[in-house]
Amino acid sequence: MTVRYMEIDDLDQVMEIERDSFSVPWTREGFFTFLTRKDSMFLVAEEKDRILGYCGILMVLDEADVTNVAVRKDRRKEGIGGFLMKSLLLLAQEQGIAVVHLEVRESNEPARRLYERLGFVTDGRRKHYYTDPDEDAVLMSRKE
Ligand SMILES: CC(C)(COP(=O)(O)OP(=O)(O)OC[C@H]1O[C@@H](n2cnc3c(N)ncnc32)[C@H](O)[C@@H]1OP(=O)(O)O)[C@@H](O)C(=O)NCCC(=O)NCCS
Repeated sequence: MTVRYMEIDDLDQVMEIERDSFSVPWTREGFFTFLTRKDSMFLVAEEKDRILGYCGILMVLDEADVTNVAVRKDRRKEGIGGFLMKSLLLLAQEQGIAVVHLEVRESNEPARRLYERLGFVTDGRRKHYYTDPDEDAVLMSRKE
């Protein structure tokens, strides 16, 4: 498995995983716009031309927001999500990012555990942040 920057050509496979992973998925245009921005960084994990997962952040000065993390359903619990996020956090650090923020559905235990393992701490909550279903967001951050 290799980790590399996401490219426009990856979007067919990325959209497959995105639609399979979220009740309100990002659109292809959404990914496209972010990929062309200089203040974003998106990575994919790939094995023999097959995208297994991806993650991304948006950077503002010395702070960043995690915008996406997803792993192909049949390849979860192998450490791919952890590896992707560690790679992204390392690259962000190298670019001078001092603190990384994210929000996660309160009920999303696998994601919350992943973030906790990576050293993210809970520092707030945003009521009714998500739709379909309506749910609070837990806000987490990690100082680099
Ligand atoms: C959240 C998500 C990205 C995690 O990806 P992942 O690749 O399964 O993450 P990891 O494999 O690194 O860790 C997941 C679990 O597998 C375990 N694991 C990792 N490697 C393992 C291995 N080789 N053997 C057994 N278990 C392993 C980890 O310990 C962890 O266990 P726990 O969560 O039960 O404590 C994935 O569940 C996903 O795509 N969810 C849907 C999208 C989503 O909700 N994204 C987050 C939005 S905020």
